[in-house]
Amino acid sequence: MSKNPSLVSQINKNRIPEHIAIIMDGNGRWAKRKGHLRIFGHQHGVGAVRQVLEAGVEVGVKYLTLYAFSTENWNRPIIEVNALMELLVDTIEKEIPTFMENGVRLKVIGNQEQLPEKCRNQLAEAMEITANNDTLTLILALSYSGRWDIMEAVKKIAVQVKEGILSPEEITEKHMDLGLDTAEYPNPDLLIRTSGEMRISNFLLWEIAYSEIYFTPVLWPDFTKDDFYRAIIDFQGRERRFGKTSEQIA
Ligand code: IPE
Ligand code: IPE
Ligand code: MG
Repeated sequence: MSKNPSLVSQINKNRIPEHIAIIMDGNGRWAKRKGHLRIFGHQHGVGAVRQVLEAGVEVGVKYLTLYAFSTENWNRPIIEVNALMELLVDTIEKEIPTFMENGVRLKVIGNQEQLPEKCRNQLAEAMEITANNDTLTLILALSYSGRWDIMEAVKKIAVQVKEGILSPEEITEKHMDLGLDTAEYPNPDLLIRTSGEMRISNFLLWEIAYSEIYFTPVLWPDFTKDDFYRAIIDFQGRERRFGKTSEQIA
């Protein structure tokens, strides 16, 4: 439960964002401030993942997408990359019982071919075990980049055109939607980025066209349920106009 029940009670249960995506940032800085190695921050970041997952289940969020490792993150020192991959395997294995208790279905987006075999196997196993859970879908973005996913979708469309199944004039946004790794999920209603950075860093470029964006200076390992509730409350105070006028929405 939240340490601050007044925050949860401020949430309008009839307007819960169906899909929340999070750029979990600031692990390295968090560790550095404490005089530790960056990986210490990643280890503590797992606690924050547990917090948002529990909070998401509690308030009725249906989809939670977490940016855990970007395509660009492969360029980090090999020691950090390896530690992150190990942490991923360990965490997924440990969390399966929690996923089962909470009705969490695990999914992955990104270029899984680039992941070490051990990671792929662990993810495949966890996805299979949790496949029938339907309270919340947890989507991990791993070796993911928005431009990569858009490129892949374009390639699929190009093949259809080449084979004569589709003509260029017939291509619609729907073909792009269906070609993306996120094809089976709704677009995020709310995008959260921690650590004070105000950029997208190649996350869900196509899907966030109309997402509400919430930036917080909190470093990811410090992110709590209450921080998550604050983001939802802020979201609920906004008017999503989708290009229309305020009067048209009312
Ligand atoms: C986010 O924290 C986690 C990953 C990108 C894997 P960072 O590791 O980017 O932490 P900072 O931004 O350097 O503080
Ligand atoms: C974005 O964070 C990727 C993840 C959170 C996994 P980064 O820390 O890699 O982003 P930049 O490099 O600061 O833009
Ligand atoms: Mg960062």
